Amino acid sequence: MMPLEKTLILIKPDGVKRRLIGKIISRFEDRGMKIVAMKMLVLSREKAERHYDVHKSKPFFKDLVGYITSGPIVAAVIEGPSAISVTRTMAGSTDGSKAQPGTIRGDYSTGIEKNIIHASDSPESFAHELPVFFSSDEIHDFQFGDEQNIY
Ligand code: CMP
Repeated sequence: MMPLEKTLILIKPDGVKRRLIGKIISRFEDRGMKIVAMKMLVLSREKAERHYDVHKSKPFFKDLVGYITSGPIVAAVIEGPSAISVTRTMAGSTDGSKAQPGTIRGDYSTGIEKNIIHASDSPESFAHELPVFFSSDEIHDFQFGDEQNIY
């Protein structure tokens, strides 16, 4: 079997408020990826600043933190072969107005702040972001009945 990788996604406040939670999660499930952790929460300012600390010096940082803390989000850990790059490809370009149709942003967004979803961009980012949202006992290990058809 190919090595499995985990990644973190966030369905941002625009995605939640636009009733897209189910559609977005279904895309990952339909692709054969495994949801191994999931929760809905309102992010604290402190956690938002920690999650986005690589962007601390950017001009949009304050707005970004204000936006991501503005309402409930859904955080999930997704497992699958090459989960980080597969999920980034499914999310599409950061700027929704440039994202390809067929991607999550390309189908649902024309914004750069309200761009529906966040997805870890590297194993290092995943390692930094994961503990902002989940403890190790919240990440589950289970098998699909039909894994031989997927992996
Ligand atoms: P995300 O994948 O969550 O990671 C950082 C976020 O910053 C990004 O999605 C965008 O929502 C946001 N972002 C990136 N560039 C800009 C920008 N120029 N103006 C406003 N927000 C931005």
